[in-house]
Amino acid sequence: MKIGTALCKSATKAMLLGSGELGKEIAISLQRYGVEVIAVDRYQNAPAHHVAHRSHVIDMTDTEAVKKLIASERPNYIIPEIEAIGTQALADIEKDGVSTVVPNARAIQLTMNREGIRCLVADQLNLPTSRFAFAQSFDELRTAVDNGIGYPCFVKPTMSSSGKGQSMVKNADQLQAAWDYAKASGRVDTGKVIVEAAVDFDFEITLLTVRALNGQGNIETHFCDSIGHIQVNGDYRESWQPQPMSAAALKSAQEIAFKVTNEIGGLGLFGVELFIKDDYVWFSEVSPRPHDTGMVTMVTQKQNEFELHVRAILGLPVNTGLRQVGASAVILGTLATKDVVYAGLDEALAITDCEIRLFAKPEAMINRRLGVALTTAETVEQARCKAVHAASLVVQT
Ligand SMILES: Nc1ncnc2c1ncn2[C@@H]1O[C@H](COP(=O)(O)OP(=O)(O)OP(=O)(O)O)[C@@H](O)[C@H]1O
Ligand SMILES: [Mg+2]
Repeated sequence: MKIGTALCKSATKAMLLGSGELGKEIAISLQRYGVEVIAVDRYQNAPAHHVAHRSHVIDMTDTEAVKKLIASERPNYIIPEIEAIGTQALADIEKDGVSTVVPNARAIQLTMNREGIRCLVADQLNLPTSRFAFAQSFDELRTAVDNGIGYPCFVKPTMSSSGKGQSMVKNADQLQAAWDYAKASGRVDTGKVIVEAAVDFDFEITLLTVRALNGQGNIETHFCDSIGHIQVNGDYRESWQPQPMSAAALKSAQEIAFKVTNEIGGLGLFGVELFIKDDYVWFSEVSPRPHDTGMVTMVTQKQNEFELHVRAILGLPVNTGLRQVGASAVILGTLATKDVVYAGLDEALAITDCEIRLFAKPEAMINRRLGVALTTAETVEQARCKAVHAASLVVQT
């Protein structure tokens, strides 16, 4: 394994497609190995732009714009950080062999559309998921629910993330509103929604799974300790590690994560989202990249999820070991404004074993994620309590 020097002719270059808070941490990890970092987003001064060698602003859903930028930068690695990308550009670039798409172009295509990954996992791999159907009209949706999905159910655009366009539907009266919302809020209107039966889980986890090379040059799969989390309206609010669970559930979770990531292939870290009830595990979805709930690993693991992703991509050895019990709680926007001033950092950081990350997003919006509180403690309960408290102390003016 060889690595060049950033900003020299020999440079090993990585281009981030998506420069949010997760991209920022990936950029920092890349910088630590002297990789030249090119951060791309749809707006200026996105979080990773602040820590990259160069930054660009383009419409990443525009296949031609993505191709043009890649042709001019010629990165060794293309690291997608978001789902809304003109994926045909990635497929073409992979075929040309100029750059390595992380983990591979098919993974990005499969996971950006719920239909792709769901059909692969449920129909081809025969792994347990919620009952589901796709609908292209309100009538199709109603028929699917009446013919077996039932209530309560979740209606989601096939292309969306962070809970956008998603509703939980408790009865027939709420179905039309859910259809309208999904149609209006999907990132790209595929004309389709997915409807899923609600899984009555005890808790949900993200199982960070790493595919990395071992000393013999073969791909090995490693698992982090499971991360428990709480979602509100499909968006993460709190996470903690480890999530206690039965040995049987853990075994089953790891088997599912192995099968899914093995099918997807490539090198890197994946966030496998799973629902757990007693010893039973359902697959929900997978991100072929670091996961927002995994920000907790910045204080809990020997190598955090960003470091693991970067090491795996570069062909370096990884260690998924836990260092300490910890938790994260998000700091959400309370104002819609530019040029936010934060107060209360001093009070938050006075809490023992607490860290705050502010993402420096140039524009705040109500409920936009602007930062995160990270804590460690003896127990998960103590860590969660401290993280939520710390996050609440950071206020915007
Ligand atoms: N079928 C289901 N049964 C029970 N809960 C569900 C179901 N589908 C979604 N949820 C709840 O909604 C959350 C968000 O759903 P999902 O992960 O599909 O949305 P998303 O928009 O991809 O969110 P993100 O991008 O943040 O992962 C889940 O973590 C879970 O809490
Ligand atoms: Mg999710």
